[in-house]
Amino acid sequence: MVAVERVESLAKSGISSIPREYIRPKEELESINDVFQEEKKEDGPQVPTIDLQDIESEDETIREKCIEELKKAAMDWGVMHLINHGIPVELMERVKKSGEEFFGLPVEEKEKYANDQASGKIQGYGSKLANNASGQLEWEDYFFHLVYPEDKRDLSLWPKTPTDYIEATSEYAKCLRLLATKVFKALSIALGLEPDRLEKEVGGLEELLLQMKINYYPKCPQPELALGVEAHTDVSALTFILHNMVPGLQLFYEGKWIIAKCVPDSIVMHIGDTLEILSNGRFKSILHRGLVNKEKVRISWAVFCEPPKDKIVLKPLPEMVSVESPAKFPPRTFAQHIEHKLFRNKQEELVTEKKDEV
Ligand SMILES: [Fe+2]
Repeated sequence: MVAVERVESLAKSGISSIPREYIRPKEELESINDVFQEEKKEDGPQVPTIDLQDIESEDETIREKCIEELKKAAMDWGVMHLINHGIPVELMERVKKSGEEFFGLPVEEKEKYANDQASGKIQGYGSKLANNASGQLEWEDYFFHLVYPEDKRDLSLWPKTPTDYIEATSEYAKCLRLLATKVFKALSIALGLEPDRLEKEVGGLEELLLQMKINYYPKCPQPELALGVEAHTDVSALTFILHNMVPGLQLFYEGKWIIAKCVPDSIVMHIGDTLEILSNGRFKSILHRGLVNKEKVRISWAVFCEPPKDKIVLKPLPEMVSVESPAKFPPRTFAQHIEHKLFRNKQEELVTEKKDEV
């Protein structure tokens, strides 16, 4: 296994300028601003906050109003802060505390959990490997593992320190799985489908995979030149995110990069490509990226709810397709969809490199 330089080690080495591989191309730099200043801005569009209190209300009118709000946010933004989501705040705090404690261990300790992407071992502690000609890297380390269904987990790969990690994370995954069902139901109803339709389409209880990625963004001496995570849309059906109240998530909305404010006790939820495809583009999978800063370590806990790689062919549901609204996406398995995105990125790189050569 090749030793990988951890961003945390680099950050702690006392450098005042970042290595070339972390410097973003100039087209990106114009829109990278100070996260703390950006978060204070009150003008302009803001990521919507959706209150899920009434998502299963007995009162039809109240329930429909809640579903309508969720639908609007899913169609307009594809990302939102969920409040009154039903997941106990103490449990979220335990998950965050145990993740923070794990990342608080010395790098050598965390290396014992290192993944090995070259040999296909993707679960564990890792950092992005340069996978393009420019060798471009991201300012983060991460921990990645499957958290649900329980029979598909490999607990031997999970952090043993701190001792609460496994229990807190398992409990949180169970709660998120229930929340995902509620959201799938509401979104199905919003599209005029049977309530259990979307969940079935993405694999149901047995096949839908929940994978957790803890993103650890060390302080960066030149945050105006780097990105924690480069711009992308999530491939998942849904993504649920906790964070340590340090801003950094930026959304590309109506042609501008907008920073998400930190809403206490909320969960950020993304609609991913999978639901965008099934809904034939009615629900939006928004382009987003992660900024870093000089002052505070940022940590986020993303759980991706993903269909199985090869078992399901994703395509717009027949009910979502008509003469006026033809299918916007060709049929592809989840694996093919990921492959297609990678290929497209490679093509774009080739075009950019060609342009650079001219
Ligand atoms: Fe993402």
